[in-house]
Formats: sequence, structure tokens, C-alpha cells
Amino acid sequence: MLFIILFILVQDCQCKLLFDCIPIGNRFSDGFNSQTNTSSLQCSFTHSNKTYLFTKDFNDDSENDWSVGHTMVDGQIIFSSNNHQLFITSNLTLTNQSQLYLHRPFEISYLLKMMSQSQIHVFKSLQIQKNISIKDQLETNYPLIISWNAIGIELFKSLQINSNTECFDLLSMQSPYILNTANSINTIKTNDFPYPLSTGHLHLLSGQRLVRYCPFSVPFTNEVKCILTTPYYQKSYSGSGNYAFAYPHCPCNDEHTSCILEFLSSEVYLQSNDLSHTLLHINHNTTLYQLDTAKSIHVEDLCLLHLISMRPFSQNLIKTSFGFITNSGESDGMFFFNPLKNTLILTGTNELHLNKYKNKVPLTIIGHGLINLKDIQDSSVYSFKIDNEKEKFKVHINQKGNNQILIFDQQSYLDESPYCAVVIIKSKNTISCQSCKEGFSLTQSNLCIKDIHCNHYSSNGHCLSCKDGYQLSVDGTCQSNYYRIEKIPLCKGDTCD
Ligand SMILES: *[C@@H]1O[C@H](CO)[C@@H](O)[C@H](O)[C@H]1NC(C)=O
Ligand SMILES: *[C@@H]1O[C@H](CO)[C@@H](O)[C@H](O)[C@H]1NC(C)=O
Ligand SMILES: *[C@@H]1O[C@H](CO)[C@@H](O)[C@H](O)[C@H]1NC(C)=O
Ligand SMILES: *[C@@H]1O[C@H](CO)[C@@H](O)[C@H](O)[C@H]1NC(C)=O
Ligand SMILES: *[C@@H]1O[C@H](CO)[C@@H](O)[C@H](O)[C@H]1NC(C)=O
Ligand SMILES: *[C@@H]1O[C@H](CO)[C@@H](O)[C@H](O)[C@H]1NC(C)=O
Repeated sequence: MLFIILFILVQDCQCKLLFDCIPIGNRFSDGFNSQTNTSSLQCSFTHSNKTYLFTKDFNDDSENDWSVGHTMVDGQIIFSSNNHQLFITSNLTLTNQSQLYLHRPFEISYLLKMMSQSQIHVFKSLQIQKNISIKDQLETNYPLIISWNAIGIELFKSLQINSNTECFDLLSMQSPYILNTANSINTIKTNDFPYPLSTGHLHLLSGQRLVRYCPFSVPFTNEVKCILTTPYYQKSYSGSGNYAFAYPHCPCNDEHTSCILEFLSSEVYLQSNDLSHTLLHINHNTTLYQLDTAKSIHVEDLCLLHLISMRPFSQNLIKTSFGFITNSGESDGMFFFNPLKNTLILTGTNELHLNKYKNKVPLTIIGHGLINLKDIQDSSVYSFKIDNEKEKFKVHINQKGNNQILIFDQQSYLDESPYCAVVIIKSKNTISCQSCKEGFSLTQSNLCIKDIHCNHYSSNGHCLSCKDGYQLSVDGTCQSNYYRIEKIPLCKGDTCD
């Protein structure tokens, strides 16, 4: 009971935090209201211990440096000053979802407290001297402090972070250089990373543009996810124009980073940039132009990936839920797996590893180009269909298994047995043709031969009737009537040929 009352009291007093000074308008010269009977004049002393609450954009037209006690920011606020005078606050608190855009030099001398989903965007400079306390927003890939073009950010060596449960991203910046601008030996420089704090480590990732904190109790993760928001990939933010990525530490193609790249656009121009440390995650229908070799490409089910104008000699590993594909960038490629219909759309020059496709249901592969089949499961059924009448679909089996059935339409074919419509692989190295394509007849020895004298075929390639002058023989081919007649009476001794 006592605990409950105490709890309510504590809660109550946090909610009813009273502020000495609350700006009336959007400028310093508009004056201040107060919740504590502090006069507007007292609030206008630029050196005081007063507490300030900002809930709207604020421009400081006092033309002085300003130092205050506690500052709370509640909302989305642009905080600026006429002549870039310094603002020093002992404590800064950002309430849930608050966004602070700092267009003036800013210094936090004691405690920075950030509540759930709040962020600070730095456009001039920021100094953090002591403690950082974060509430309910511990996740990676959601940086707390973002700098697209700040002049300097100073993290003091006295920094303390009170978080023991998760890794999180403290600072995303346009260049590692901005950590090195201060002359002070008291600030953490890029060479100091990984930097030990009393509770964990600060790490530099993503081309030294991301500062990540991981407490000792949690394994360090170097996974960074970047999202390209425009159709054009850029190696970094040039300092003008549109931001290609959601955060300045992106893209993350860096050997020390496990980089994941996602796209918002459905058409993306990669312009042959180096993506050798980047995993591309395809989670919607996407066309990629000018792709060089990426670390790998993960295509989700029901998402169509189209690769156009790949860099010559590029080779990409495409991971899907049924296995993986190694694509050679010789011709445009297309990839789409539909687990509901058990179909795979596949074009280009590909090596197919169907190691995860254990399904007994036939897998239908629709497309064109060249397939090298590898690692196919025993007792499985695959059918091949071309997607375009003008194209061919050539299949080669690299590793044969047991009881595998391959079914081909008229223009898709197994290179070892091009006229066969149904191939059964009974055991390793024995392939047997069960029926032939149109225009071919199946012989007794399971070969398909072209039979120009056949008139009608059964659906599985057996000749049903022969043209005039020919007759269906026991091996299923059309034999000349004349030949049969001729053979008997004319064959006399050595005149036979
Ligand atoms: C402000 O002043 C009024 C009148 O003097 C007083 O009644 C009130 O309690 C004061 N409020 C605070 C928060 O000090
Ligand atoms: C600031 O607060 C401290 C104690 O909290 C006090 O000693 C000091 O005089 C205050 N300074 C100003 C400028 O109000
Ligand atoms: C800053 O925060 C600390 C810890 O909550 C507190 O002890 C201190 O009084 C605060 N300082 C000011 C000026 O509000
Ligand atoms: C802030 O967000 C957290 C988590 O989303 C929530 O638990 C808390 O109640 C919120 N606080 C306020 C003051 O809205
Ligand atoms: C500042 O950090 C130190 C060291 O982690 C800790 O002892 C202290 O309680 C922290 N202060 C605040 C206000 O969080
Ligand atoms: C993605 O492509 C597939 C295959 O062409 C198509 O069936 C599907 O409707 C497309 N999805 C969207 C969201 O466009």
C-alpha cells in the first residue's frame, strides 16, 4: 500500500515538473511565461540556473551566449540564433518523439536525457560532456544524433552512458572528420575507437560515420541497415541536393560492417558502384540497373527482382527461400519465387542450387537463358517452361541424384538430351527419356529421333500413325513400306546392301 502511494507521488511529481521560463513567442525578445512565478526579466538573463521549456520553434535574437540550468524540448523544434551564439544547458531532456533541429552551437554540460523515439539533428556544433541517459529507444539503425553537415561534434572523454540492455546508435554523421575538429585532448577522436566507457564500448562503423554503443553485457553487432530513398545510389552525401539515404552514415559498404541495403524505389540505378560488402535486401518488386557484384542479394518470396545492364563479369549470389542462385551478369536476369504456386521465374545465366526445395510438389521454372542445375533433391519433380517464344531455355544438370523427374516444354531442353520432353534420373548418371518433344519419336532404347515420316504423335511423343508409304514399326518409328517389300524379294545373296 505504502509502495503504491509512494509510486503515485513520484509519478505525480514527474508529471507536474514546473518550468521557470516558457517562451511566449518564437523569439527571445518576445519574453517568457512562468510556472514558478519567475519574472520574464529573470528569464532574460542569459546566465541563469533557470529551467526552460521549449514547445515550438525558437530563435534567439539576444545576440549573447546563453547558459541555463535545465532545458526540456517537447515537440518538433527548430532552435536557432541570429549570430550563432553558444547555448549551454546543464541538462537537456527530449520528451517522447521530440525532434530538435539545432541551428546554433550547443553544449550539454551534464546530462542528456532522451526519451522514446527522440532525435537531435545538428547543423552547427554539439558538445556532450558527461552523461547520456536513454529511455525506451534502444535499437540499432535509429541514430539519436544526426549530423548531415555539422562543423564539429565533441564527445568528451568523461562521457558516461547509462544503458545495460541493448546496443544503440548514438551518432550518424556525414564524415568522421567532424569528431576531430576540436583541439581539446579531452574529446574522443576517430583514432580512439573502439572507445571504452565504464558501461560498454563505443564503436565506429559504416565508413567511420556511425558511432554505436554496446554495453558489456550485450554482444557487439556490426550490422547496419541503410535505406536508399531515391532511385540513384550515391557513395556519400555530397553536402547539397537531396539526401539519397535516410541517414548520413549511409551507404554502409565497408569491410568492418555487415551492411544491409534496402530500396524505396522500384527502379534503382546503382551505377556500377562497389557493393562488395553490401547485402541487398529485395522486399518489393525491384529493377536494378548497372549492378556490380554485391556481397549477396536476398530476394523475399513474391518479390520480383530484375537485373538490367549488369557490369560485365559481375557475379551475384541470390538467396531465396528454396535455395540460392549464382547469376553471371552476361545477360539481364529475372528472379521471382512464388511458394503458393511453386513457381520460379528465372532468366539469364544461372547456377541453381535447390537445396532447400524439399517439397514433393513439382517446381515449375519459367524463363529463358541457361541453367546449371545443382544440388537438387532426390525424388523431386521440376518442369521447365519458356516465358518468351523467341527464346530458348537450356538446362544442364551438374549433380544427378535419384528419382528426379524433369519435364520440358517445346523450347526448353536438357542439353544432354535435347529432344526429350520427360527425363527420369533413376540413379546417379543414368538418365532415361520417357517421352519426346513434338516431331520426335521415342525408340525402344529410350532415345528421341526425328521422324519426318510420322503423321500423328501422342502427347508423350510416341508416333501414332505414319505418312503414306510408311508404316509404324514395332520400335515406334515409321518404316518405309517399300523398304519392307523390297527387302524380301530383292535380297539375294551378295546383292544385298
Ligand atoms: C506564485 O505566486 C502566487 C502569489 O504570490 C502564489 O500563490 C503561488 O503559490 C506561487 N506559485 C509558485 C509555483 O510558486
Ligand atoms: C545557480 O544555482 C546555484 C545552486 O543551485 C546557486 O548557488 C547559484 O547562485 C545559481 N546561479 C545563478 C546565476 O542563479
Ligand atoms: C540535472 O540532472 C541531474 C540528474 O537528474 C540533477 O541532479 C540536476 O539537478 C539537474 N541540473 C539542473 C540544473 O537541473
Ligand atoms: C513514452 O514512450 C514510452 C514507450 O513508448 C511509454 O512507455 C511512455 O509512457 C511514454 N511517455 C510519455 C510521457 O508519453
Ligand atoms: C552519470 O554517470 C555515472 C557513471 O555511470 C553514474 O554514476 C551517475 O549516476 C550518472 N548520473 C546521471 C544523472 O545519470
Ligand atoms: C510483383 O511482380 C509479380 C510478378 O510479375 C507480380 O505478380 C506482382 O503483382 C508484382 N507485385 C507488385 C506489388 O507489383
